[in-house]
Amino acid sequence: MTNVIGKPLPRIDGRAKVTGGARYAADFNQKGQAYAVIVSATAGLGRITEIGADAVSAMPGVIAVISHLNAPRLVYGEHKGSIDPAIGERLHVLQDDQVRFWGQPVAIVVADTLDHAERAAAALRVAYAAERPVVDPTGLLASAVVPEATRRGGRAHADAERGDADAALASAAVKVDESYDIARENHNPMEPHATIAAWDGDRLTLWSKSQYVVNEQAEIAAIFGLPVENVQVICPFVGGAFGTSLRTWSHVTLAAIAAREVGRPVKLVLTRKQMFFTTGHRPRTLQRVALGAARDGKLTSLIHEGVGETSRYEEFIEALTSVSGFLYSCPNVRTRYRILPLDTGTPTYMRGPGEASGVFALECAVDELSYKLGIDPIELRRLNEPEIDEAADKPFSSRSLIKCYDAGAERFGWSKRDPKPRSMRDGRLLIGMGVASASYPAFHAPSSALARLLPDGTAEIEVAASDMGPGTYTSMTQVAAETLGLPIENVHFSLGRSDFPPAPSHGGSWTMASVGSAIRAACNAVQEEAARRAVADQRSPVFGASVDGVMWEEGRLRRRGDTAAGQAYGDIAASAGGPIEANASASRDPDIADRYSMHAFGAVFAEIAVDPDVGTIRVRRALGIYGAGRIVNPRLAASQCTGGMVGGIGMALMERTVLDQRDGRPVNAHMADYLVPVNLDIADIEAHFVDEVDPHVNALGVKGLGEIALVGMAPAIANAVFHATGKRVRTLPIRIEDMLA
Ligand code: MOS
Repeated sequence: MTNVIGKPLPRIDGRAKVTGGARYAADFNQKGQAYAVIVSATAGLGRITEIGADAVSAMPGVIAVISHLNAPRLVYGEHKGSIDPAIGERLHVLQDDQVRFWGQPVAIVVADTLDHAERAAAALRVAYAAERPVVDPTGLLASAVVPEATRRGGRAHADAERGDADAALASAAVKVDESYDIARENHNPMEPHATIAAWDGDRLTLWSKSQYVVNEQAEIAAIFGLPVENVQVICPFVGGAFGTSLRTWSHVTLAAIAAREVGRPVKLVLTRKQMFFTTGHRPRTLQRVALGAARDGKLTSLIHEGVGETSRYEEFIEALTSVSGFLYSCPNVRTRYRILPLDTGTPTYMRGPGEASGVFALECAVDELSYKLGIDPIELRRLNEPEIDEAADKPFSSRSLIKCYDAGAERFGWSKRDPKPRSMRDGRLLIGMGVASASYPAFHAPSSALARLLPDGTAEIEVAASDMGPGTYTSMTQVAAETLGLPIENVHFSLGRSDFPPAPSHGGSWTMASVGSAIRAACNAVQEEAARRAVADQRSPVFGASVDGVMWEEGRLRRRGDTAAGQAYGDIAASAGGPIEANASASRDPDIADRYSMHAFGAVFAEIAVDPDVGTIRVRRALGIYGAGRIVNPRLAASQCTGGMVGGIGMALMERTVLDQRDGRPVNAHMADYLVPVNLDIADIEAHFVDEVDPHVNALGVKGLGEIALVGMAPAIANAVFHATGKRVRTLPIRIEDMLA
């Protein structure tokens, strides 16, 4: 019953998910609810000149047609959650006649049934004075700017330089200097964004898909000018999100507007198409990486310059170049990050945000360098393994990159690789093997949690966290069960309500560290509270002992050094006349962050086959080996990582949102033409973990896994494609036409 942490338990919510018992946002149908459908702008920039509301208001079932002409003026009070851009102002939906990007909501139609709402929305005529938007960054690099957030003193994305990288590059014996272009991508979780809004006077309940329910609560309260406690957000299950449900997008506001205007609950579900332009995307990035090395393979210069797109009204920034500062030892390093505002909706975090794109460029360049040097790519990384984080000038709290390469090379059979490009074949097929490093910061955000001991001997844990799929329900139950010394089935963990103790966003790979630490603190606090009650209770076997003189063992409270049975939680709670509760918070010790550089690392291997006649690329094997601290549940952790690797395969070979240059319209905003990997695209894929004990990172010793799993996959595949074919492709996704060129 103890040592539950580290056990490969199956998902405790698995049965609910496969039997339909798990309720997602759109499942919370309310009595008397109406249906709202968004009308999306069919201009990419300009002004709305006319809304033909009268013609559709008379259509069957239509209750309301709401546009900027009749929508309530909302407060849009100041609120910046940790996931909202620090600079700029969110879209004020239906507040004016301006069109800022293609697909921006310009009206909502509310009807008695979804069918009626869809018919009326399709019939609504909207006229525009349209202008041509600028949506393609190609050729605009000169207009890229330093982020305003950086100008105002933000350090995270600031230019960094040590030594003289340009001079060192000029005099390097061997060099690589190349450019990389990664397509805009859209998150495509199975569950679409959905909100059901219901007002009761000036109180609003939202059943809404969210990775961050307390932020959604605060955001909607600010937009409507309500006290925060008047808004309740409920979201027990999230059907995948990958970052698209971190922010609260305009459809949540629209659902709340509609429900208030028609005086009944309203359900609003985005179409798959609408998820391509109103709920964020991975920004297109353009990068340059230049490497200089001595003949022996030692890096002498590393330059990484990157530009990411953002919207005109908000400044989205991400850590595009930061890994280049510390992944390798190098005396001369220069990194530079710029943004380019375009006529688009604001991008957002998408799994491995920043790092996935930046590491692609760096790791492809390192691979190119290995061929120029004639040094094995793993050996080249070993040669340049740093002792410390040379960018931060701090030791790593732990770093297992080389251990990951060693374990991976062995398991993958790297020694069987003939280093010569285009030298390995399987019949007609060209075979390639590639590797790349992965890295993502081990973040930790403040969180709180509530622990409650019940007279029946069970415990309840409540946190306003989310579980978008990685297994948070299970892993958090494990942390609580182990801390309390209870069997896992006696612990009931609940999340996804904004009236639970606040948690940070379910993102940035920090949930295990942050929420896990808070749960551990709450469990310890409730044990203390129970002990205080017991030692003061004449009926307790520990009556009269001091709180320090008792201890918990396997869910029972005993006097220290006494082998008597002691008293179980349930009996203490029963004696107390009801549940015993404690609320606790946890955050990172600021000294630790000052002293150590904390990141997870990994080595990713790919074997691909290219058909030289038709140009198809198949991933035959993929292996990720990660050093991510303590693994709370190896089964779910491996599942989490293989899922991220699948995302990396999509990034490498399939995913690309294509915009029509004339109006900014995504031309492939549907699952037939926006390609994502399906089962047939995924062959032999495995994730494993090296033993890594990190005594510094946090009390649980966990680093987080969600993002790093996507980070190294795309460069490993691009490097394998080069090995197979001798063709170096620096544009993602790599396409059939690249193989035939
Ligand atoms: Mo993840 S991009 O932080 O949901």
